[in-house]
Amino acid sequence: MRGSCYNIADLRRKARARAHPMAFDYIDGGADDEIAMRNNHWRFRRYEIAHKVLAGIGRADLSTTLLGHRLDVPFILSPSAGNRLFHKDGERAVAKAAARAGTIYSLSTLSTVSIEEIGALTSGPKWFQLYVWKDRDLVRDMILRAKAAGYTALILTVDLPVHGNRERELRNGFCIPPAITPKQIWQAICRPRWTWDYVTSPGIQYANLTHKTEKSSLFRLVSEQLNPAFSWDDAEWLLGEWNGPAVIKGVVNPADAARAVQTGFNAISISNHGGRQLDASPAPIDMLRPIRDHIGDAAELIVDGGVRRSSDIIKAMALGANAVSFARPYLYGLAAGGQEGVERALDLFVEGLHRDMILAGAASIGDLNESFIRARS
Ligand SMILES: Cc1cc2nc3c(=O)[nH]c(=O)nc-3n(C[C@H](O)[C@H](O)[C@H](O)COP(=O)(O)O)c2cc1C
Repeated sequence: MRGSCYNIADLRRKARARAHPMAFDYIDGGADDEIAMRNNHWRFRRYEIAHKVLAGIGRADLSTTLLGHRLDVPFILSPSAGNRLFHKDGERAVAKAAARAGTIYSLSTLSTVSIEEIGALTSGPKWFQLYVWKDRDLVRDMILRAKAAGYTALILTVDLPVHGNRERELRNGFCIPPAITPKQIWQAICRPRWTWDYVTSPGIQYANLTHKTEKSSLFRLVSEQLNPAFSWDDAEWLLGEWNGPAVIKGVVNPADAARAVQTGFNAISISNHGGRQLDASPAPIDMLRPIRDHIGDAAELIVDGGVRRSSDIIKAMALGANAVSFARPYLYGLAAGGQEGVERALDLFVEGLHRDMILAGAASIGDLNESFIRARS
């Protein structure tokens, strides 16, 4: 990987060549015309780094703190569903790479390795992500399991009251466990390494839900369980049940950010689900300043979506984020080459940060502020 992947786009190319198209498109696709997905990344180009010279920096300090955790790097890993579909090691590979990088791993409700197994796998910090389910017993059960397994914060994802219109998924007939159609079989033949792993590994299931229903109806269970009527009152109930540090994920509107603070969330993940939900939503990086101006320091802010270069991380931190997060960069790495691929993705950010912090003239993440940023005209 080190000798062939010099950026996230290289990992994406490798992932496309190795993984079944159904799996690759699930990672790579967005909603509707995929404008929000592309915009998330492009809008970083609106900001330039007005670098400072002769700053006398031998080596930059990349560490920061987030919800009381000291992190070696200013990024964390966003939750993502179904990782064993991309590579046989799935969430195990990602959690180990996150611990190695000294940062937080977020496990999705819809993971293909269980809450308990990932909890015991590494000593690194872990957060647990929850969707807004109808079944309160299911919610309670998951929260208790996450607490018992040592997850230190709950992420409530609120931008998926219903599934976004992801046309690549519809065309591919995407589901977990994967459907087996003549087209899928032909595509599997064309991706022999992925297919060998798939047929020689245990079946892929949503590992946290298997006790709830028969295998065949798991996908339906998930669709039926999403609760579009979930409200701020329900969120308050949930925080009471969890009774610990909590992040709300999927906020872009400053008024919602203020409501989240009022409801008791400690951190806000400014996110549009990587452009996979409402295609008309704004890029998270553009909503950072408006949200920070609106709520001040009342909550920690995480910018999630479109981060592909270490300079994107520097821009977000200088604009007032407490951390950034991403999913596709590490998922391309996972699909390209398992844990080694994930590590390559994270190393690209770390190595790039060490280089770009010196180029920007910032000795530490804490030194970054708006004086480094200029809007591109
Ligand atoms: C394949 C895939 C699966 C995802 N699954 C989840 C999930 O289970 N829960 C969640 O809150 N967000 C999920 N997301 C959204 C990510 O957490 C994150 O918000 C988004 O991908 C950030 O954009 P980026 O991929 O450009 O970094 C998923 C994203 C992808 C690409």
